[in-house]
Amino acid sequence: MTSLNNAVVFVAGSNGGLGREFVKQFLDRGAVKVYASARSPREWDDPRIVPVTLDVTSDDSVAAAVAQAGDTTIVVNNAGSYRADDSITGGELSDIREMFETNFFGAVRVAREFAPVLGRNGGGAMLNVHSALSWWGVAGAYSAAKAAMWSATNSFRIELAGQGTHVEGLHLGYTDTPMIADLEVEKNDPADVVRQAIDGIENNEYEVLVDDASKSIKAALALPIEALYPDLPDRSA
Ligand SMILES: NC(=O)c1ccc[n+]([C@@H]2O[C@H](COP(=O)([O-])OP(=O)(O)OC[C@H]3O[C@@H](n4cnc5c(N)ncnc54)[C@H](OP(=O)(O)O)[C@@H]3O)[C@@H](O)[C@H]2O)c1
Repeated sequence: MTSLNNAVVFVAGSNGGLGREFVKQFLDRGAVKVYASARSPREWDDPRIVPVTLDVTSDDSVAAAVAQAGDTTIVVNNAGSYRADDSITGGELSDIREMFETNFFGAVRVAREFAPVLGRNGGGAMLNVHSALSWWGVAGAYSAAKAAMWSATNSFRIELAGQGTHVEGLHLGYTDTPMIADLEVEKNDPADVVRQAIDGIENNEYEVLVDDASKSIKAALALPIEALYPDLPDRSA
């Protein structure tokens, strides 16, 4: 069990739909302080919440945030960006790089910089927010970047085990946040997603799959590729 009591939590992307829930629920569940980081930090009406400026695509910004938050025991690597109709063949190569800058290199930067802090503070926990799309390539560069981050999380988990840091990967399908406000699909409740994610930290779960989409997509990875992509042309004839 990772205790949430007296935890000091750093949330990346805390102005977003899931980010705000992480800030609120960690405090409700015993954290004494939450660093609420964002590119443009907002004011919070709670002395336990410390606003921090963070752009995950900048070395200097991440280094400054980590220096400010040296007592962190739990890091939530939640910042992310998404483009509707993303494609790996369309647009410019720079669009793909941009997607990786936030969703892969940004998250890796945050994880690498906080790893020694967590180690110094007794191990603690790192929560990396992935997606059902980490395992399903229908969202172009977003899927690719989230897949790469999933792989990196597996490596962080192995490499940080020795210092006692628990690393959780979180997978979710469509969830009702500003990120997909324009999509008219059935969506998870962000409060439920975050509750399951924090339960996972408390119970030392390595991977949390919050919904049927995440579970069925992961299960299909063990099947022939057509199970995940039934619309592919039949090449067997
Ligand atoms: N909502 C879904 O359906 C869904 C599904 C699967 C996975 N996810 C993942 O869940 C995580 C949270 O997303 P959300 O749904 O809460 O979306 P959101 O409301 O759009 O929040 C995303 C947050 O990430 C921040 N961010 C983006 N680029 C950043 C950067 N360079 N540096 C620092 N912060 C940056 C945004 O900050 P600004 O406020 O400055 O823009 C925003 O606050 C993301 O990693 C996303 O990929 C979401």
